Amino acid sequence: MSFEALVVQDGVQRARVRQLDLADLPRHGGVLVRVDWSSINYKDAMAVTGKGKIIRAPLPFVPGIDMAGTVVQSDHPEFPVGSPVLSTGWGVGERTWGGYSRFQWMSPNWLVPLPEGLTLREAMIVGTAGFTAMLSLQAIEHFGLPIEEGPVLVTGATGGVGSFSILLLAAAGYDVVAVTGKPASEDYLRALGAHRICARSSFEGGARQPLDSSTWAGCVDSVGSRVLEAILSQIKPHGVVAACGLAGGHELSTTVYPFILRGVRLIGIDSNTCPQGPRRQAWKALTELLSTVDLERIARDVTLNEVPEACEQLMRGGIRGRFVVDLRTAG
Ligand SMILES: NC(=O)c1ccc[n+]([C@@H]2O[C@H](COP(=O)([O-])OP(=O)(O)OC[C@H]3O[C@@H](n4cnc5c(N)ncnc54)[C@H](OP(=O)(O)O)[C@@H]3O)[C@@H](O)[C@H]2O)c1
Repeated sequence: MSFEALVVQDGVQRARVRQLDLADLPRHGGVLVRVDWSSINYKDAMAVTGKGKIIRAPLPFVPGIDMAGTVVQSDHPEFPVGSPVLSTGWGVGERTWGGYSRFQWMSPNWLVPLPEGLTLREAMIVGTAGFTAMLSLQAIEHFGLPIEEGPVLVTGATGGVGSFSILLLAAAGYDVVAVTGKPASEDYLRALGAHRICARSSFEGGARQPLDSSTWAGCVDSVGSRVLEAILSQIKPHGVVAACGLAGGHELSTTVYPFILRGVRLIGIDSNTCPQGPRRQAWKALTELLSTVDLERIARDVTLNEVPEACEQLMRGGIRGRFVVDLRTAG
């Protein structure tokens, strides 16, 4: 049986759709998944375009850190044939072949049963981005940020993590302020639940002083670097910042003052290695919180053939929301 996969290989045309057979797939585990939907995350865009060292395995390689589909062969009782499943993270699409293939062998340790109330496509609109936003919200709640404490910033607001962070924080009752480099996206951001929009440029100069005026109760930051540096100097006493990304750069230069004089909490978020218990709990919470939300505002469907161009667009920072990859016609 042959089917389609997006394969990264050496050479000029780095990523292209190829016909594979089941025998071509590395046997990562005992569960064979027929993939219906995947998505495009920042990491995927780096892997497909070659603009970041994401692939940590020999080429040829199939990227795609997210996937949702149906089990067609299984040696594991929790995932019988016919059961709908999803997967994000665990190095899939980085170290082991990922979701840009109609079929993939998966370890049961990487799979989550599709939560009731979510379709396979909806699970991929959410994907790693929405899951990371949920972990960020949970961190903010866990570290005790009261809703009445004041506005919570979301940086990289039009991106995948940013869009979901706005949706989830607003649904949880927080006063959300979106930080964006795309002023023309104001209507989109307000429709997601942002009360106010701030220009990214007002944070890009970094911290003006170690302790600036305390303005924000918290933040979900997917940008890092100078933007995070500026925000840390403006967080109110005992505020919480969830740091989850580096769209603006990986470096961080700050002082200890926000931490020792204001008790600011800087919490790191890693969706990739989130253990199964909290992972399933976060997917359950996501499903409940998103049940009243129109996910179509965020989603844009692409085919496997359209993934390379979509990845180029994403790397240019010019898109908003989430690309969802439709593999249903890929074999
Ligand atoms: N920790 C984790 O587990 C985890 C999980 C998922 C993603 N991430 C990371 O989170 C970040 C965002 O991922 P994503 O999938 O949401 O990506 P995305 O959809 O491409 O969104 C990134 C957003 O960041 C802003 N941006 C782009 N280029 C920028 C630049 N040069 N300087 C400042 N801001 C810039 C843009 O939003 P505006 O134009 O609205 O400002 C853009 O839409 C990435 O660094 C990714 O690796 C981490």
